[in-house]
Amino acid sequence: MKILVVGNGGREHALAWKLLQSPQVKQVYCAPGNGGTAILPGCQNLPLKIDDFDGISEFALDSGIEMVVVGPEVPLAQGITDYLRTQGLKVFGPTKAGAEIEASKAWSKELMQVAGIPTAQAAVFNQASAAKSYVRVQGIPIVVKADGLAAGKGVIVATTLEQAEAAIDSIFQGQFGKAGEFVVIEECLTGQEVSILALTDGLTIRPLLPAQDHKRIGEGDTGDNTGGMGAYASALIATPELMAKVQKEVLEPAIANLHSRGIDYCGVLYAGLMVTPTGEFKVLEFNCRFGDPETQVVLPLLETPLEELMLACIQQRLAEMPPIVWKQGVAATVVAASGGYPGSYEKGKLITGIDKAEALETKVFHAGTRLVERNIVTDGGRVLNITAIGDNFQQALDRAYAGIKCIEFEGLYYRRDIGYRVL
Ligand code: AMP
Ligand code: GLY
Repeated sequence: MKILVVGNGGREHALAWKLLQSPQVKQVYCAPGNGGTAILPGCQNLPLKIDDFDGISEFALDSGIEMVVVGPEVPLAQGITDYLRTQGLKVFGPTKAGAEIEASKAWSKELMQVAGIPTAQAAVFNQASAAKSYVRVQGIPIVVKADGLAAGKGVIVATTLEQAEAAIDSIFQGQFGKAGEFVVIEECLTGQEVSILALTDGLTIRPLLPAQDHKRIGEGDTGDNTGGMGAYASALIATPELMAKVQKEVLEPAIANLHSRGIDYCGVLYAGLMVTPTGEFKVLEFNCRFGDPETQVVLPLLETPLEELMLACIQQRLAEMPPIVWKQGVAATVVAASGGYPGSYEKGKLITGIDKAEALETKVFHAGTRLVERNIVTDGGRVLNITAIGDNFQQALDRAYAGIKCIEFEGLYYRRDIGYRVL
């Protein structure tokens, strides 16, 4: 079987790597891929942008691609699945209508309210003055969100009224472009965040192992939000009891509601939860794709062939699949980032030590890297995900940190406290 993966991050490297572990999968292509997928045996990068739907479709049809797996939210929200399906291709990833669950926080919030899914209390505004009056009535802390896709940067947790008002102004003044036509103002929740990635064919939905990521740049979960500086699975806080409640109160109602709107949602539905110390939870957001870096810790533990699960989703026979099988143990990943990220940073720095790290007990997924002649150089803010499995979190994290000590590039930054909650 030949599979085409769309995207170029650590998530896509992990997807390509996992797909290639199945004896059924002979070849994976990545559009455009990164330095890791360029050197992965059985994988080939294609010089195609993620929004080049014609180019992707032409290559897939000419090369006998049997499944296209879409990693990032942007092409999904732009309708890549709708387009490729009209060309007769099989696609793992929701249509434009389904991707709305991530692409519009207002739409997603309305779905949660109608479906009775526990979520933070919220209101939607298209005018700064009304939004500010609401904030003054609600008080602080309060969360201000741009409605649309903003690469994780459109959420401001305001601890003063001035901050909240400044956030409202900057969103309406176009800081996030069209993503800021509407503002969602939300009750501020506290607790621990858990990422639940679930596979669905539009009728049946099955969660993968719950994961937790560290979103902030600084140790102790401080500083600016990032795409994620490290992650681990399975998250202990998501007990079997909590997962059963999430299935009944979040995942199944979401899919049923999408179905009632005529949306046959195929792919990953990712529920981001806030879990309080008493085990109550509320949904913070839905995403229409695999999480990054959560995928890099969930997939190494997956035993069931990934392409079988994905095909079952596409063919709407997930209910017939036997239970998903997992390996023993836990997984952790530490992100090696470029100095300056999530602000501005330089690219093109030579990376050494990946082989040394992999000679230990780690797997290095590439995120922002590029192959230049025979060298791997930095090409993004999050550069590498040093990943390890262990019998317990101490072992997995010790292995990941031993691996990252082998890596060198100018400006390398990483958090030294990934997983502190589970140690
Ligand atoms: P979102 O894109 O909606 O997941 O928001 C990004 C991040 O902002 C989340 O992962 C949380 O860390 C934080 N956040 C979002 N909504 C809330 C909320 N209602 N209360 C507290 N933190 C939030
Ligand atoms: N790690 C957070 C996300 O993928 O949205």
